[in-house]
Amino acid sequence: MRSLIAGNWKMHGEMSWAGKADELEKLYPAKNRTHLDILICPPALFIAPMVRSCSKANINLGGQNCHAQENGAHTGEVSAQMLKLAGANFVIVGHSERRAAGETDKMVRDKASAANRAGITPIICVGESLAQRESGKAEAVVSAQIKSSIPEIEDYVVAYEPIWAIGTGKTATAKDIEQMHAPIRKIVGEGVRILYGGSVKPANAKEILSTKNVNGALIGGASLEMESLAAIAKAA
Ligand code: 13P
Repeated sequence: MRSLIAGNWKMHGEMSWAGKADELEKLYPAKNRTHLDILICPPALFIAPMVRSCSKANINLGGQNCHAQENGAHTGEVSAQMLKLAGANFVIVGHSERRAAGETDKMVRDKASAANRAGITPIICVGESLAQRESGKAEAVVSAQIKSSIPEIEDYVVAYEPIWAIGTGKTATAKDIEQMHAPIRKIVGEGVRILYGGSVKPANAKEILSTKNVNGALIGGASLEMESLAAIAKAA
């Protein structure tokens, strides 16, 4: 399966960051990475200005969230259709930072369906909290999230991001990751890419990306600098 190396810029960036695609292309030219897919998910309003440089560098663009409906009276929201029109072909849904702000499995499932209808691939995020892990419930929590957050669609990606590993510098061990990706694989089957996310850095990328059932990474902090994003992609 082709690896997917996905950068989630979260609420970081400015217009001039469109040039980061050229930077990445210099560090790791598209002709040397035909075996993998690279994706950048900038804040939605930076997608359109990045289309030119990203398509030249063979980098995919994605949103970080979308609304479940195509359009309507939803002030401040962006639909999957709009992301597609702007130039995205992926969208992250159900990131833990959004779940923490009240997003439920049902909302995540509706957003993933909306992405599918719009013709873009949802990256459906799941992950347990530290308290859930310490009480031995991690696998049950993640399996339940998977079952309720994934609609009846074929084209999607799952990202396992343990909440305690996001932005903390604490990475799950290869064993933790393998133990969680195996039951996820059982539920989603062979054709779906399963990414790991949570403090992925150049120093740990090789080990994480060579773990069984890991088909790529969802990277926050380390995706803001092209040196580190390129180094992680080279490890895939
Ligand atoms: P960090 O890589 O900064 O831990 O963020 C992970 C993440 O939340 C990606 O979606």
